[in-house]
Amino acid sequence: MADLSTSIAGVKLPNLFFNASGVCCQHEEELKTLLDSESGSLITKSATYEKRLGNPSPRYVPLPGLGSINSMGLPNEGYEYYLEYAKKYDYTHEKPLFISLSGLCLEDNVKMVEAFVTADLPCILEVNFSCPNVPGKPQLGYDLEAMENALNVLAPLIKKPFGIKLPPYFDIAHFDAAAAIFNKFDNLSFVTCINSVGNGLAIDFETETALIKPKDGFGGLGGTMVLHTALANVNAFYRRLPNKKVIGVGGVTSGKEAFLHVLAGASAVQIGTQLKEEGPQMFSRIKKELEDIMIAKGYKSLDDFRGKVKTL
Ligand code: DHB
Repeated sequence: MADLSTSIAGVKLPNLFFNASGVCCQHEEELKTLLDSESGSLITKSATYEKRLGNPSPRYVPLPGLGSINSMGLPNEGYEYYLEYAKKYDYTHEKPLFISLSGLCLEDNVKMVEAFVTADLPCILEVNFSCPNVPGKPQLGYDLEAMENALNVLAPLIKKPFGIKLPPYFDIAHFDAAAAIFNKFDNLSFVTCINSVGNGLAIDFETETALIKPKDGFGGLGGTMVLHTALANVNAFYRRLPNKKVIGVGGVTSGKEAFLHVLAGASAVQIGTQLKEEGPQMFSRIKKELEDIMIAKGYKSLDDFRGKVKTL
């Protein structure tokens, strides 16, 4: 038997798989389908201070064989909805609850974090520094000074272990600079890599028309086409953040890509596009596929191969 259990922020997950924030997690009914699935955990849709309807549709389109493009524009119920959900959550459940927060400004993140801290719940916060889809708002993850300032404010407020969702980086100097900032914050316990590759453009050849409506067709790319960018980011931060964990996300459609994420250094693996396309029953398939790979390779636990990618 292969053991898929792991731990993040000091909390045990029965297996390493859960949804990427944004997929199947805006409403309680969707979260229920994750709870009923074989996922090892669940995370809520990124919350803003106020409820948002998001961008006009079509705003998510699958690109068969490649992945997906989206510009959802942060449709969500507002943080109070997710706070209420977190208050009602049954923490005797084996799946820990992650809450994603994505304030449109630092003040909003502060207000939301304060509300969660006051409620004193055992849920785990993942603060999103990387939403690329709000017109007129650059993402925090690409402004290192603003990101350090945000961490200087948020980390002491949160006090307990928390994580951040990062955009993909593409330059070694940026990995170095971002990691140097993250290492200054002891209770920054994990980084989740990667959010979508921002602002791609998908065009229909026949109609010569952009596939999604918001932002003249520009949107975040996810799925198979981002796998290698995701693996690089997971491994870059795994190497640079020796006292933190990395949650891998990007391009996982089967046990094989999940295996590669762990080999690159991931302690847990989130799934976005494939979950959106296949639905939560996907978790039982992917668990079985990873178990079969581990058994075939003689690995009994994730620790046996995490971060052990060989180089030439
Ligand atoms: C949305 C997209 C993201 O990549 C993200 O991190 C948060 C929100 C969105 O468009 O809804």
